[in-house]
Amino acid sequence: MYLRNAWYVAAWGNEITQKPLARQLLEEPVVLWRAAGGTAVAFEDRCCHRHAPLSVGKVIETGLQCGYHGLTFDPDGNCVDVPSQDRVPPDARVRRYPTVERNDWVWIWMGDPEEADEAILPDTYWHDAPDWQAVGDRFHVRCHYQALIDIQLDNTHSRFVHPDTLGNDGSLRHSPKISRDGDILRNHRRMADSDPPPIFARASGINGNADVWVEWAYTPRAGIITFDAGVAELGSGVFDGNRDRAWTMLNTHGITPETPTTCHHFWVSARDFSLDDPEIHKTMAGIREVFLEDVAMVEAQQRIRNHGPDVPQVDIAADVPTIQARKLVDRLIAGQG
Ligand code: FES
Ligand SMILES: [Fe+2]
Repeated sequence: MYLRNAWYVAAWGNEITQKPLARQLLEEPVVLWRAAGGTAVAFEDRCCHRHAPLSVGKVIETGLQCGYHGLTFDPDGNCVDVPSQDRVPPDARVRRYPTVERNDWVWIWMGDPEEADEAILPDTYWHDAPDWQAVGDRFHVRCHYQALIDIQLDNTHSRFVHPDTLGNDGSLRHSPKISRDGDILRNHRRMADSDPPPIFARASGINGNADVWVEWAYTPRAGIITFDAGVAELGSGVFDGNRDRAWTMLNTHGITPETPTTCHHFWVSARDFSLDDPEIHKTMAGIREVFLEDVAMVEAQQRIRNHGPDVPQVDIAADVPTIQARKLVDRLIAGQG
């Protein structure tokens, strides 16, 4: 069962064009298209006439036209034309999902439309703000979506999965501080006088120890995890909010279930330093390979789980954030009735 009364990232804004895009989300076929006025629209990918996928239709001035018998649906999902007759049957409509387009991403709400509230979406300004340099992509990942959430929320994996880039010993020694903020789970690790993750050591030029931090916020009702991570020169006061001598990276992970064993991973990684430096850009854009290391691990994990989904697991103390996250999602699912 999925949390349905939630936003999920459906697509990058630039993936949604006048050519309909078929995408399976939460095990449902969805078609995404851009209406003549520019609005990103999401329909169930099923024509109400004979269930042809609307994704093989085309966008015309008045809406999305089914590729089978030409019924046309306006951006609200109402049929506005049946080419073979004058009258439009009163029940001729398709399901339209609420969408929000913001900071280069399009979110979809697949639960009760009455509950769709844009205020749930956290601010992700770093995706497209001029004083941030961002890279991003979408990966199709062959694992249950919660395994991909787990690996993002568990910072102790970095030392082993990303030893040459994000891993540092500090993450193993400093316990995470977890807190609940309504339906958002927050976590921070503040590592004073610690070994910087190699990617930050390269980007900052800091030799030796630094003040290092990793903070994340998981918002299940927006389908995303946001990260604030970085390094600062020792004693520069970063833990008191002074980032004058700090190198900051803000990341977003939008994780959207596709099937029980696959998901979509939308991600953005942005920095606020050395914006025009091609060497630093190359270093920081290497985060893509880092995230592909995550993908390799969770896909391998899924392959083993397929051989015994109910085999018991052993928990360790570092699992507290992922266990808390699953409890939160379970509670929200139970509450949606
Ligand atoms: S199936 Fe869509 S118009 Fe007939
Ligand atoms: Fe990772």
